[in-house]
Amino acid sequence: MTALTTPDADRPAALEACEAIGRTDDGFLARFDAQFPRLHALFARLYGQRADGLEQLAATVAAASASWNARPLDLKVRDAQREADQDWFQSERMLGGVCYVDRYAGNLAGIRDQIPYFRELGLTYLHLMPLFDAPAGDNDGGYAVSSYRRVNPSLGTMQQLTELAADLRLAGISLVLDFIFNHTSNEHEWAQKAVAGDPEFSDFYLIFPDREMPDAYERTTREIFPDDHRGSFVQLEDGRWIWSTFYRYQWDLNYANPAVFRAMAGEMLFLANQGVEVLRMDAVAFIWKRLGTSCESLPEAHLLLQAFNAVLAMAAPGMVFKSEAIVHPDEVVSYVSPDECELSYNPLQMALTWEALATRDGRLLQQAIDRRHDLPAGTAWVNYVRSHDDIGWTFADEDAAELGIDGYAHRQFLNRFYTGRHEGSFARGVAFQENPATGDARVTGTTASLAGVESGDIGGEDRVVLAHALALSTGGIPLLYLGDEVAQLNDYTYADDPVRRGDSRWVHRGNRPRDAYARRGDDTTTAGRIFRRLTKLISVRQQSPELAGNTLMPFHTPHAAVIGYQRPGAPSRLLVLANVGDAEVAIDPLTFSGFERIGFDLVHDTAHDLDEGLILPPHGFVWLRVTPV
Ligand code: GLC
Repeated sequence: MTALTTPDADRPAALEACEAIGRTDDGFLARFDAQFPRLHALFARLYGQRADGLEQLAATVAAASASWNARPLDLKVRDAQREADQDWFQSERMLGGVCYVDRYAGNLAGIRDQIPYFRELGLTYLHLMPLFDAPAGDNDGGYAVSSYRRVNPSLGTMQQLTELAADLRLAGISLVLDFIFNHTSNEHEWAQKAVAGDPEFSDFYLIFPDREMPDAYERTTREIFPDDHRGSFVQLEDGRWIWSTFYRYQWDLNYANPAVFRAMAGEMLFLANQGVEVLRMDAVAFIWKRLGTSCESLPEAHLLLQAFNAVLAMAAPGMVFKSEAIVHPDEVVSYVSPDECELSYNPLQMALTWEALATRDGRLLQQAIDRRHDLPAGTAWVNYVRSHDDIGWTFADEDAAELGIDGYAHRQFLNRFYTGRHEGSFARGVAFQENPATGDARVTGTTASLAGVESGDIGGEDRVVLAHALALSTGGIPLLYLGDEVAQLNDYTYADDPVRRGDSRWVHRGNRPRDAYARRGDDTTTAGRIFRRLTKLISVRQQSPELAGNTLMPFHTPHAAVIGYQRPGAPSRLLVLANVGDAEVAIDPLTFSGFERIGFDLVHDTAHDLDEGLILPPHGFVWLRVTPV
């Protein structure tokens, strides 16, 4: 075993390892030269003390080289296109969709049959929820992976997945899959071997003989799924304790062991060559642990992501990462950089959209748009209204305090509001992971159910459209939860299913709402109206170059219920004004004094004489093309 020294000294060993498993391709060598010093530096910081540091680095690089050699030609062509147009995901034509393979279409063949619909909708990005082999029964919706190289047989085969990726690519749609790298299922081969004491794998997980270390760690860690188990550890049959941040059958990997990094990089490279274009990096905040800390978002978590990024840059240069960090907004943004994750969910904007609809006050959302929207060049937000997960109120308490809002009390209010426990609430949501010890909880529900369609509230449909109008116009990639575009409602049957009963997120993961889709052309129905209004927004977005990229300039009115921002273009700008309140708002002509007199609302195809001001109806909004004077 050899430890790491310097990049120059260690380079020959890495190249030798590449040669040993096949000819080192010219194209690879150039990228190796560009990335090796970076990867070496990251390894030195993560694994400088390890006797096997160099050996694992060389093996990782060799795997990257072999992966590039095996990379199908069409994917290499796609890599070249992406390298020539690195801002591809910033386009106003980008539109994401997300669904479960089984729930939406039965299996992979069914998803393939939906491609014409995806094109009709304008999707350019399709996130298929985890579709890998997983334990039968409860498996956290596939987030407990038993093999990254095998598709769950009930959904299809790896061959079908590869073919689907190619068909989607031809249809202009990038396949997005999860890379669930914080943990594996307890049935994964590595997990089985670790528990059985196989020396190669015993250090792949964090296993302790008694409660001493678990107790020490739990003094500073947070409980993530307290409904399933308290703390961060679960007990094995033999009495030992294993780190499980999420469900008891999801065992956290031990990234302090470089062999784990090398092994997971191998799984990532395998997926890369199946035609995946974006990897959703699951649960990034949890991947590094250190005693005495929260074990969330530690510096090494970033180093690990950067190391995965460097490996990918060598072997699949067209691919990008999307970070899933549902944490404090300062931390969310810390994962976003071209060297780490090029894309990130924007959980703050998502949660505050719901906050604004509940309070009828847009100030917290406006504040987030004003000061927490900027991102480094070459990166983008993924803006969404809701996901397959719960809504957590992840705003910063210090931001709220500036507006005189007490964060704790406000979260309690929002939880009550969205679970229908607040009198007069329009929302029909369900609580998720209520923790009596801390008073913490999150909220689940489909967009339509949370927005008031299910309760029959008069503003329900408008709120669905308004929430999407924000996600579609603030920048980056807007992401639709498929079904929401036809106003899918909550599905309460999960409560009768013994496997799903314990996880209220299933309430918003219902099967593809066939009836609602069948009605999508019928304007006398909710499904039809929502579909017409959302597809109009999508088509306007596709034709509005101002909506590309992430640049956004605040636009303030004196009305607490109105959110405003401008998306710059030349010579025009797009001014978005949205009223989250239940009352009409009249905006004074003076507010528009910086613009020429006529503004054109692209969504409602109406010209406005701004010298007369503007009326925003309850839950109304405009996407106004204006020209600065
Ligand atoms: C992510 C997923 C969530 C899952 C968790 C554990 O947060 O979005 O659905 O439960 O990771 O894998």
